[in-house]
Amino acid sequence: MILAPMQGLTEVMFRRVYEECFPGAIALAVSPFFSLTHGNLADATEKIEDVLPENNVGAIPVIPQILGKEPYEFIELGNRLFELGYREVNWNMGCPMRKVAAKHRGSGILPHPDEVRSILDAVVPQLKPSLSVKVRLGLTDREEIFRLIPVLNDFPLRSVTVHPRLGRQQYNGHPDLDTFGRVLPLFKAPVVYNGDILTGADASSIRRRFPQVADIMVGRGVLYRPTLPLDIADPSRDTSDDRALAARFIRRLLQEILSVMPSDQARVRKIKEYWCLVWKALPISEMQARTVLHEEKLTIVEKMICQFLQ
Ligand SMILES: Cc1cc2nc3c(=O)[nH]c(=O)nc-3n(C[C@H](O)[C@H](O)[C@H](O)COP(=O)(O)O)c2cc1C
Repeated sequence: MILAPMQGLTEVMFRRVYEECFPGAIALAVSPFFSLTHGNLADATEKIEDVLPENNVGAIPVIPQILGKEPYEFIELGNRLFELGYREVNWNMGCPMRKVAAKHRGSGILPHPDEVRSILDAVVPQLKPSLSVKVRLGLTDREEIFRLIPVLNDFPLRSVTVHPRLGRQQYNGHPDLDTFGRVLPLFKAPVVYNGDILTGADASSIRRRFPQVADIMVGRGVLYRPTLPLDIADPSRDTSDDRALAARFIRRLLQEILSVMPSDQARVRKIKEYWCLVWKALPISEMQARTVLHEEKLTIVEKMICQFLQ
């Protein structure tokens, strides 16, 4: 199982706390993306810090992800990551944000297979780490993936992660499993499935329906239910301690946020970003969970969450 990249959520702090609470439960993570538009990328300090090996001691092993379409910068950043010890980088071809997609970045590149070919033609021969990609079925039309696959197949990709939605859909609707089934046998590279895996049974049903799938990537499900990776590994495990395990994980995450974030305002913002998802692991109602989101004072937010964790 692979942890999905989630900007603002699955950075190194999360990957470290998760590994501490559930050692070995998640074999690998893809990092939230590094954007090639972030100015001087080789010194994009804040982002590079997320994958600096010294900061990743004790964290889930990670593959850095790159978002962008500029071959020169792609190669420079990719090779800098190689020097840091990374043997694989992942190209984000799935980001649905309108501003990003409008510039043919993320899912915005999917309708342009010729552009993909010219980027890969320029990047692949010069890139020291191997390359994997993460795609959606298209930006606005699922036929886009069928024109893209022959291009991707011409390059030695380590894997292709497919999130079977369109960029236009953002996270709405359901993953299109029928189209996923049609494209799966067409890829030369191993295919990783991603999208809406919320229970161990969801993962088992994907594996049963698509036995060729090489691995499963899970994002929001891990926050809704931190013990989900354990269920995926062993669907018949004893789940009686899961609430306590989740509470322990959330408490540790909270402690890390309090010690790492630079100001009370930033701490409250970060706690709420996680809280929107992780409260679901606790035996509380949505209305109770919302009371935290309405509060601005750190001491009160902290007190409320600690009460819910008891
Ligand atoms: C808050 C948030 C941030 C995300 N950031 C990234 C990102 O940096 N790179 C990327 O490829 N996908 C990103 N995604 C998409 C996820 O990796 C994943 O494809 C998506 O959430 C579907 O999987 P899930 O249903 O298991 O969550 C993000 C998703 C969310 C909700």
